Amino acid sequence: MNYKIALVPGDGIGPEVIEETVKVMNKIGEKYGHGFQFTAVLAGGAAIDAVGNCLPQSTIDVCKTSDAVLLGAVGGWKWDTLPGDQRPERAILGLRKQLGLFANLRPALLFEELAEACPLKPEIIEGGLDIVVVRELTGGIYFGEKGYKDTELGRTAYDVEQYAEEEVRRIAMVAFDMAMKRNKKLASVDKANVLESSRLWRSVVTEVAKDYSDVELSHMYIDNAAMQMVRNPKQFDVIVTSNIFGDILSDEASMITGSIGMLPSASLAKGNFGLYEPIHGSAPDIAGQNKANPMATILSAAMMLRYTFGLSEEANEVEKAVKSILSQGYRTADIMSPGYELIGTKETGDRIVKAIGE
Ligand code: IPM
Ligand code: MG
Repeated sequence: MNYKIALVPGDGIGPEVIEETVKVMNKIGEKYGHGFQFTAVLAGGAAIDAVGNCLPQSTIDVCKTSDAVLLGAVGGWKWDTLPGDQRPERAILGLRKQLGLFANLRPALLFEELAEACPLKPEIIEGGLDIVVVRELTGGIYFGEKGYKDTELGRTAYDVEQYAEEEVRRIAMVAFDMAMKRNKKLASVDKANVLESSRLWRSVVTEVAKDYSDVELSHMYIDNAAMQMVRNPKQFDVIVTSNIFGDILSDEASMITGSIGMLPSASLAKGNFGLYEPIHGSAPDIAGQNKANPMATILSAAMMLRYTFGLSEEANEVEKAVKSILSQGYRTADIMSPGYELIGTKETGDRIVKAIGE
């Protein structure tokens, strides 16, 4: 089969990690007889510098006519002083909205080989951690009405948290489907003790649960969930939550695995289309130095193979290759500890390609 993939290298370490991922995809294509056709497009700071707009229409058009999108990272110090509506991060939000990417899957997996990097006590994570945060991505406070007004207290800014039942229902269904493929346990996280939008969220999730009687559903308030995540993370399997809570909780979940440089993500639309990107950012401090860890992007490509192209054998092969170089003792700087061999971005890509060949 042939697949069209839009590449958004973006800023900072984005182009470097994308380059290694393309090598890995090409190797998979060669081994399994698939053709991956890549088209690189501009977004973020790179697009601001080149064409004065963080998300050119041509980028959106190429993404829409592709089967999937692979994104590196956007943003950096250089553009930090721009007004909110012109910042590189707007490109991400624009892509999510324009491409209808309402479901964000963020797995937080503790790699056995990297267990030492986990900041929690060994007894808390004994037996490993494997959580998926399913975050609603095109609604809520990120996209609600926002603005400024004058009040008696001076300039006042507001951002509205708002959810329609259809938005809650479709993300809940993604989460229940995910739970069915895993351990049939779903925690829905909200703030229903205070927020009206959360009360609606909770009632819609409860309704959807009727179609998934095999799944054990629990509801948890966001403050409690944030606490439980470090107290006893093993109680979680699949978590479903709103855009803003998911933003925060997925960073927390990734940190407790100790390897933010390792974690991929998928943002899915209705159907099979998806945008895949590492969880980490553009890391401008190490950009262009062959230091970045490309594994999160490579694992994002594995998610693309699995979710958009339905190629689970190929996806497993990529994941296996990543694990194999870890167990051979190779480490990039972000996951380095004494006794291991430090390697750069390019060598990591090359070694993963080699592991796939074996
Ligand atoms: C994320 C990021 C984005 C978000 C930013 C860059 C807009 O933090 O993907 O988690 O808040 O969604
Ligand atoms: Mg975030």
